[in-house]
Amino acid sequence: MNNIDIKILLKFLDFLKEGILIVDKDKNIIYANRYIKNLLQEEDIEGKHFSQVVKDNYLYSIISHDYKKDTKEEISIKDNIYLVHIYHIEETKIIHLQDITMIEVYKQAKKDFVSNVSHELKTPLAVLKAVIETLENEDNPKNAGIFLEKAKNRIDQMDSLINDLLILAKLESKEENINKELVNLYNLVENIFEDLKHLTLDKKVSLINEVDKNLYINVDEQKFKILVKNLVENAIKYNKEYGKVIVKAKEKDNSFILSVKDTGIGIPKESLPLIFERFYRVDKSRSREVGGTGLGLSIVKHIAEAHKGKVWVESKIGEGSTFYVEIPK
Ligand SMILES: Nc1ncnc2c1ncn2[C@@H]1O[C@H](COP(=O)(O)OP(=O)(O)OP(=O)(O)O)[C@@H](O)[C@H]1O
Ligand SMILES: [Mg+2]
Repeated sequence: MNNIDIKILLKFLDFLKEGILIVDKDKNIIYANRYIKNLLQEEDIEGKHFSQVVKDNYLYSIISHDYKKDTKEEISIKDNIYLVHIYHIEETKIIHLQDITMIEVYKQAKKDFVSNVSHELKTPLAVLKAVIETLENEDNPKNAGIFLEKAKNRIDQMDSLINDLLILAKLESKEENINKELVNLYNLVENIFEDLKHLTLDKKVSLINEVDKNLYINVDEQKFKILVKNLVENAIKYNKEYGKVIVKAKEKDNSFILSVKDTGIGIPKESLPLIFERFYRVDKSRSREVGGTGLGLSIVKHIAEAHKGKVWVESKIGEGSTFYVEIPK
C-alpha cells in the first residue's frame, strides 16, 4: 500500500462508529481512532502508555491482560455495553470496541414481549375459566347475564391483542396495500373519541377535538383510524387525573401534521428513541398495570411510513407528551 492509501484508510477509521485502539508489546498506544478518542475524552493519545489514558476499570483490565490468543468480551462503560475483540498480530494488539447497547435492549424487549403476550392472554383466560366454573353452578339467569358480560369483555381484550399482532405482521411484511380516499379528519377523531370514551371515566380525562371541521385528508381510512386510535388511547392511558387529550391538525404546503397532545406522565428522555420499537414499554411494572403489549406505537409508525409519512414525539416528564404525524398530501 502506498502513503495515500494509508491516509485514506486512517480517515475511514475515523468515520467508524466503532473503536479501534492499537498498542505495542509494551502497551504503548500506536493508534486510536476518533471514536476511542471521544470515548476516552483525550486527544493526544498516540505515544502514551495506555495506563495514562484508560481510566475505565474494565477496559484497563482487558488491555493489561495478556491473552494467549484472539478473544472477545462484553464490558460496560458508563451506561453502555460494548463487545470488545482483542486481536494479536505479532507483538501488536488491536482492540476493537463495538457498542451493542441497542442490540441488548432489543433482545431484552423481545423476551419481555413473549412474557407480556403470555400475561395478556393468560389473565383474560383465567377470568373466562372462572366465569365458566361459576356458570356451571349458577341457576339464576340474572346473575348469569353479569358473568357472561364479564366473559365478553375478556374475549374482546384477547381479540384486540391478536388483531394488533396480525396488523403488525401484515404491515411488516408489506403485504398490505394502502387504499387512499378523502376522509374528514374531524369526524374520524370524533368516532375514535366515542370508541374510547369508556377509558376516560376512571381518571376523568377530557378529550378535545380541535381539528378543523372542513379538513379532508387523503389516507387509508381504516389504517389511519388505527393510527390515531393508538395515539389517543396512549394519551388517555398515560394521563393523570383530570388530564386532557387534545387532537389538532395543521396543513403545510405539501403535507398535513396531526398532533395528539396529553397532559400526562411524560416519557423519560432515554426512552424517546425506543418507544416506537416493537415490544418496548417504558416502565414495565407501571405499564403492566394499565395493560398492553408495547405494539401500539410500532403500529403507528408502520402506518405512517406506509403513507410515506413520519412520526415523532416531544415530551416532558410530569408535564405530558405530544405525538406528531406528518403525511405528505
Ligand atoms: N402519551 C404517552 N405518555 C407517556 N408514555 C407513553 C405515551 N405513549 C406511549 N408511552 C410509553 O411508550 C410505551 C409504548 O407505547 P405503545 O403504545 O407502543 O405500547 P403500550 O401502550 O404499552 O401497549 P399497546 O399499545 O400495545 O396496548 C408505553 O408502554 C408507555 O410506556
Ligand atoms: Mg399503546
